[in-house]
Amino acid sequence: MSETFSFLSSFWNNPAEICSVVPTFSWSARKIARVIPPDVWQQKLLINECGPGTGAITDQIRRLMSEDSRLVLVEKDRALADLLKHKFAADPRITVHTEGAEHIEGIMQRYGRADLNFNMTPITIMPDVVRTRMLDGIRNSLTETGRSVTALFRPFAVPRILRDHFPVVRYRGIAPLNVPPLFIFESRTVVPTLETVASTTVECRRLAAKMDFEMDLLTLDRT
Ligand SMILES: C[S@@+](CC[C@H](N)C(=O)[O-])C[C@H]1O[C@@H](n2cnc3c(N)ncnc32)[C@H](O)[C@@H]1O
Repeated sequence: MSETFSFLSSFWNNPAEICSVVPTFSWSARKIARVIPPDVWQQKLLINECGPGTGAITDQIRRLMSEDSRLVLVEKDRALADLLKHKFAADPRITVHTEGAEHIEGIMQRYGRADLNFNMTPITIMPDVVRTRMLDGIRNSLTETGRSVTALFRPFAVPRILRDHFPVVRYRGIAPLNVPPLFIFESRTVVPTLETVASTTVECRRLAAKMDFEMDLLTLDRT
């Protein structure tokens, strides 16, 4: 049975939780995974993915993650979770949990704090109590520098929801060739200090330089 057919069949049984008739296209999945820069992928990472479905994004994460990294998949749909167990059985870096991602905090207590989270569950339509527990759990089980990547097709509702749970939410682009198109967001657990940001992004390095320059002018003004 093809992965698209498995996905469609799960959608047929539970449209409210599957929420899409086809898995994410590989081109879009690549774009979503590449929100995380190459130097991060080279490190030893603990990663979790909520709602992996047939593993479209998992395939890309797998290609990018190092040999000593670990990936925890949390898929609520039993048929899809069984498919994932079968598909990734030969990869010792991957573990599949057939559970709702609202239990992510408890699940991650067995592994440690995650460096990365990918969340493709339909957060805009799930019950408030499930969503709150899931997003708080994702945040609480990330490291201080951890990042959570979400890609959904509701560009305004998604950041509004994420901002209730994460202090930093950034729009990271669109995967327009998907059905439906996906809007990608990256959330962080802590507001990065200027020092951290400056050392990691060119854009902020420029900002830091400008601020330094303006501070110098201010100091000169006072002397
Ligand atoms: C839109 S599909 C995305 C599937 C896959 N990530 C992809 O991109 O093709 C949403 C997935 O989230 C799963 N899901 C929905 N609610 C969930 C929950 N509470 N916990 C874990 N998985 C959930 C569904 O079973 C489905 O596999």
